[in-house]
Amino acid sequence: MNILIVGSGAREHAIARALHASSEHPTLFCCGTSNNPGIQQYTEQYWVGNICSIEELVTLTKDWRIDMAIIGPEAPLDKGLADALLERNIAVIGPRQKLARIETSKSFARTLMDKYQIPGSPDYRVFNQLFGVKEYLQELGEMGYVIKADGLMSGKGVKVAGDHLHSLQDALQYCEELSDANQIFVIEEKLIGQEFSLLCFCDGEHLIPMPIVQDHKRAFINDEGPNTGGMGSYSDTDHRLPFLTDADIQTALDMNEAVIKALTIETGQKYVGILYGSFIATKNGVKLIEYNARFGDPEAMNVLAILESDFLAVCKMMIAGTLSSEQVCFANLATVCKYAVPQGYPDKPVKNALIDISQVLHPERIYFAAVDERYGKLYATGSRAIAVLGVASNIFEAEQFAEEEINRITGPLFHRKDIGTRELIDQRIRQMILLRKVEYEI
Ligand code: AMP
Ligand code: GLY
Repeated sequence: MNILIVGSGAREHAIARALHASSEHPTLFCCGTSNNPGIQQYTEQYWVGNICSIEELVTLTKDWRIDMAIIGPEAPLDKGLADALLERNIAVIGPRQKLARIETSKSFARTLMDKYQIPGSPDYRVFNQLFGVKEYLQELGEMGYVIKADGLMSGKGVKVAGDHLHSLQDALQYCEELSDANQIFVIEEKLIGQEFSLLCFCDGEHLIPMPIVQDHKRAFINDEGPNTGGMGSYSDTDHRLPFLTDADIQTALDMNEAVIKALTIETGQKYVGILYGSFIATKNGVKLIEYNARFGDPEAMNVLAILESDFLAVCKMMIAGTLSSEQVCFANLATVCKYAVPQGYPDKPVKNALIDISQVLHPERIYFAAVDERYGKLYATGSRAIAVLGVASNIFEAEQFAEEEINRITGPLFHRKDIGTRELIDQRIRQMILLRKVEYEI
């Protein structure tokens, strides 16, 4: 079987590794935006270029006689890559363009949930000009709002009051910029609580949840500094997180199921791929931050590393519409993923910095992201460079493993030492107890 992986980050390295481990021994191919040495070691052919150039990718799939494609990032989904490949009878893990709008348009996601009466959204309104903006911001209250540009913005379209917007003036200015650029934007209530990711495999009808993961968006320890693509993540042995209740998990799962049903009715199409709900547990229960139509990065590393079932078999079940929970098993192990990123990341990262991984003891626990291999030397190109994954019988051992291993990577890089530590997790548990207590007292 010839399988194409689209994308060349650590998420796609994790996908390639999981497929390479399949007992069916598929032949792997990759279309990526850079030369990822981790993916390259598993692939027969590797093309570097614009992965949103649908025509070029379709031609390559013909030349390479591709049977199945897995689309890693959101941008090619937004451009209709899944539709183009399906038309050529290539099986695809990744939703069609219309279905992917659940990620690619924030306003579509929110209004779909309203239309199908799916609870879980914060208070929100969609705007395409400034009329009523000031009044709505005032209604949500000082520092009580989040402004989101519609469409894919590479994580830069969301501005949170108190973090990125420090006054009503800042907020109005951002809305004006968006309105001047003819951008639709969503203003919504700022939610307080703990975020978590619940990814599901989906075959168009059935949803199978993966272990719940918590990502860390902020660049520096104690969740300070600018937002990033995600600095690291962890999951627990029981596939839930220590601060979540059974009811929280059920609410998130119900929302994922209701959204797949709504999308199917709305588009008349079947969602085959990964649905990734990004949730927040608040004092008023679980709410939806956003949906993604793909694996998370770093979450893919956490979940795929402990998938006990054959990943290719799971993909085939997604395509055939025969997913069943008995056939998708995850090991009861904890995972901690930490990203080494260039100094100055994300705002002013050092570019093309020479890094050395020769001291690493467990290359099988390393995932390459924004690195380039030239003449046997490895360079960090500017974005998240290398992820290290610890897998153990509890979170703290997994953390220790990841911490030791990441310190063996040298170069002008930094990482978050606190991800997966007892201190940080205790802090999260305490925050949730405090928030929920407030609710009981009301
Ligand atoms: P998104 O691109 O929608 O995932 O937003 C990026 C980040 O902004 C999220 O991971 C949250 O930390 C934050 N965020 C988004 N929406 C909200 C909200 N309604 N309340 C609080 N924080 C939010
Ligand atoms: N974990 C963040 C993302 O994949 O979007």
